[in-house]
Amino acid sequence: MERYLEVRGLWKSFGPVLALHDVSFAVERNEFFTLLGPSGCGKTTLLRCVAGFEQADAGEIAVEGHDMRFDPPEKRDVGFVFQRYALFPTMTAYRNVAFGLEMRGLHGAELDRRVQEALDLVRLRGLEHRRPRELSGGQQQRVAVARALVIRPRLLLMDEPLSNLDAKLRQEMRTEIRRIQKETGITTLYVTHDQEEAFSLSDRILVMDAGRVQQIGTHAELYFQPANGFVADFIGQANRLPGEVVAAQVEETTVRVLGETLRLPRRPGLAPGQRVFVSVRPEHVRLAVCPGDSCLKGRVRQRQFLGPFLRYFVDIGGAEVVADISGITLDGLASLPQEGDNVTVGFSPHDCTLLEA
Ligand SMILES: Nc1ncnc2c1ncn2[C@@H]1O[C@H](COP(=O)(O)OP(=O)(O)OP(=O)(O)O)[C@@H](O)[C@H]1O
Ligand SMILES: [Mg+2]
Repeated sequence: MERYLEVRGLWKSFGPVLALHDVSFAVERNEFFTLLGPSGCGKTTLLRCVAGFEQADAGEIAVEGHDMRFDPPEKRDVGFVFQRYALFPTMTAYRNVAFGLEMRGLHGAELDRRVQEALDLVRLRGLEHRRPRELSGGQQQRVAVARALVIRPRLLLMDEPLSNLDAKLRQEMRTEIRRIQKETGITTLYVTHDQEEAFSLSDRILVMDAGRVQQIGTHAELYFQPANGFVADFIGQANRLPGEVVAAQVEETTVRVLGETLRLPRRPGLAPGQRVFVSVRPEHVRLAVCPGDSCLKGRVRQRQFLGPFLRYFVDIGGAEVVADISGITLDGLASLPQEGDNVTVGFSPHDCTLLEA
């Protein structure tokens, strides 16, 4: 695996606002890499630093070992797709796509061939003579993607390119963007605050909060092994049960949680007496049955029927546990715990993550 884009120790402030706090990561060649985080966490700032629209206060940005920090944007050879399409409103789709090549001195048959190729790639053949206002949002965004790709950049940067589209179109464009990325093999740095979008598109994801990297990993790593409480909450849904470390052994960590003692897989760096959270996903929580598992006793406050599963809200001594029970049948409903029932809440220690409080 090759480090294609490397960002090391990036800092950026706007007056008193620290937008990037010592950000480091590496993207491999042909990889689809996504920056995921809540609004204001620094995603756009990071992308703009890579593109050269913004100058970082400190840190390095290199592509294939070449330090680009002081190159102007046009020398960096990156394609950029913005949240708002930023097309030239008076030019046709064709001219919008051709523009970047013309600026690079291409013309005639070679220009036409490259433009047609890009329009084909985003499936816009037949619409090339329309102006942006005569195209739908999804079609305009395709023009923007074609315009970024036609120059054959070393790197494609996309900043929430789908956020202006309705839900259905967003789904469709996700599939399209992934297809285009696979077909071209272009190394892509993508920004979104939408976890589902990040998961459906990316090879790897960088989770950011308040200008800092929280975790870098694949979908499965982020989902099953969140590095901290922020990632556990931001990626999907997670119960966070407050507890205290009783003993830290070689193989396992013993934790006192809501009056019960749980033996969980070891997490290094925890000492007896330390406050922790036990994080467990709703789909890993079982109700009523508890043979040999770690278990807690509670009472069903609410039960919601959500189609593929039942969602239970269970009170356990001041805390709340959410449990999603799937595999529901009409006949089976009556035998499942009802609102007001006392239940045992169980989960396998292997489905739990211990987080520092
Ligand atoms: N030009 C600027 N001047 C002052 N502050 C700025 C500027 N650009 C960004 N910021 C601040 O830096 C922080 C990071 O902003 P940024 O636009 O990178 O966030 P973001 O993650 O892209 O958010 P969103 O998801 O809402 O687009 C924010 O607190 C923002 O207010
Ligand atoms: Mg942004």
